[in-house]
Amino acid sequence: MCGIVGYIGHRQAYPIILKGLQRLEYRGYDSAGVALINENEVNFCKTKGKVADLAAKVSSKISDKGNLGIGHTRWATHGVPNDTNSHPHVSNSGNLVIIHNGIIENYESIKKELINRGYTFSSDTDTEVLVNLIEEIKIRENLKLGRAVRQALREVVGAYAIAVFDKTRPDEIIAAKLGSPLAIGIGEDEFFIASDASPFIEYTKNAIYLEDEELAIIKRGHEVKVRKIKDDSLVNSTIQELKINIDQIEKGGYDHFMLKEIYEQPNAILDTFRGRLLVNEGIVKLSGLENHLDKFINARRIIIVACGTSWHAGLVAEYIFEDLARIPVEVEYASEFRYRNPIIYEDDVLIAISQSGETADTLAAIKLAKSKGAFVFGVCNVVGSTISRESHSGAYTHAGPEIGVASTKAFTTQITLLSLMALRLASAKGIISKSQLREHLIELELIPEKVKKGLQSDAYIQEVSKVYKDTANFLYLGRGYNFPVALEGALKLKEISYIHAEGYPAAEMKHGPIALIDENMPIVVIATKKGHYEKVVSNIQEIKSRKGKIIAIVTEGDTSVKELADHVIEVPETTEFLTPLLTTIPLQLLSYHIAVMLDKNVDQPRNLAKSVTVE
Ligand code: AGP
Ligand code: GLU
Repeated sequence: MCGIVGYIGHRQAYPIILKGLQRLEYRGYDSAGVALINENEVNFCKTKGKVADLAAKVSSKISDKGNLGIGHTRWATHGVPNDTNSHPHVSNSGNLVIIHNGIIENYESIKKELINRGYTFSSDTDTEVLVNLIEEIKIRENLKLGRAVRQALREVVGAYAIAVFDKTRPDEIIAAKLGSPLAIGIGEDEFFIASDASPFIEYTKNAIYLEDEELAIIKRGHEVKVRKIKDDSLVNSTIQELKINIDQIEKGGYDHFMLKEIYEQPNAILDTFRGRLLVNEGIVKLSGLENHLDKFINARRIIIVACGTSWHAGLVAEYIFEDLARIPVEVEYASEFRYRNPIIYEDDVLIAISQSGETADTLAAIKLAKSKGAFVFGVCNVVGSTISRESHSGAYTHAGPEIGVASTKAFTTQITLLSLMALRLASAKGIISKSQLREHLIELELIPEKVKKGLQSDAYIQEVSKVYKDTANFLYLGRGYNFPVALEGALKLKEISYIHAEGYPAAEMKHGPIALIDENMPIVVIATKKGHYEKVVSNIQEIKSRKGKIIAIVTEGDTSVKELADHVIEVPETTEFLTPLLTTIPLQLLSYHIAVMLDKNVDQPRNLAKSVTVE
């Protein structure tokens, strides 16, 4: 996610930028930096760590000079968090300075081209490639900065919110946006650029929100000019008068971070497969896997270790890897695995799944597996986290920071990434043909829109939550790919509403849990068309005959379950192995609304921590 802040006006830039970065801290970050122009000289300060670390590092030499500057809090995607990879980045000439929120997918090919043209790079980031591409075009075609930026952005694939200036022209900043948010604050003879309005709302309530593929020329003493990157046509942007406060901005207008992150899932899933799911070429591109394909293909088995929600994602992965890639998989609670003296072979591959990348039990499991010679692959959301550094290789989910303690977008992006891995392995082993792979990739590419469609049931789910918010116990049932989703749904309810809930394989009901069922017991049953549908429908009939209250998650258009269930929540149809990405959404919303109605602390539930870094 990260944050960008820029200022050009009559005030000193640094204090405004520093406070703006602090205001954006909620967006999560691993490093921070600032660049200030003073008499055609650029002063930089960049550091791994917090904004407070940046503030401590900035010397008074630079902080009280210059009224044009840009600042950045980084959430690394390419290049581990360190001082060099922190933003702002500067072009080879030293003239152009950029900050960037997003991902340049085709940076490797552009970097190769620039190196051939004699450019050098000091960081591992995609952003440094972008600023040098702008420079190359600016010099080669003798363009002004705005036009060079436009030309460069037409060559890149990916997502960006950028601010860039030329130190030789210290009266303008160029901003542009695609996929990442960017707001421009319009003050009295001053302009602000930021990821959202929180850095400038105390100075001005007048703002322009750039639309995708728009570029803004922000020049001292002039009106902001907005142009379309595609055809350079002028855009008549609306200046909005903002009526929101800081707290609302941080949560993106949602009441809680958890709800914001539930709604971020379409973009988070898109960002996770961006640049890795290449439908036109019909391939999956995962460099961390590609370089070790043989280890997975020749593995005796895959052992997945994780905790909590990540363990549920691992269970989904077991079904997908065995079903699609025919590789034996075992899923282990990391806390059990590390102590039960497990048998680990050198030709085992261990996949460690962890949103935070800091979970102590998962880290210990990795170390144990490494000590036995197994190959370790990390699936984390935090670049440069301990687990990602301890792993031999890995791949990052690009969910952005997850602030709510209850994991939501981490779960769906983990499944997205693990699905891509399973597809790549299935195709490498020749188990699925190129056309079958392409079919699956086309369907996976549709998932963000299908998740958006599933979110439209939110209001109805809120109504259902009202009916059951005071219940003491819940059962969650699912079969096949939806069994792990039943476990995840139960965990969500438990951890934020403190209502007891259990997830079970639907068929297991008759081996005990059915004794619990009476008219006071709500049972959430995942009964999508693909995945043992008829069997699940008969489980629903068994529940009905014992007067259980049924909340069914069904494939849209399903009319038969409607006859049996007390409430039916529809999700779009998709291929069986991708169903968890859709069926988990209503369960997240159900637990969220019940917890809110019970007035619980949704984002920081009692007794819980976001990352369990102790045993
Ligand atoms: C899930 O909502 C919880 N936050 C918790 O179970 C979490 O999934 C678990 O602690 C693992 O965390 P990790 O993914 O950061 O390793
Ligand atoms: N992709 C850029 C990097 O890794 C920007 C990441 C961000 O949005 O902070 O530096």
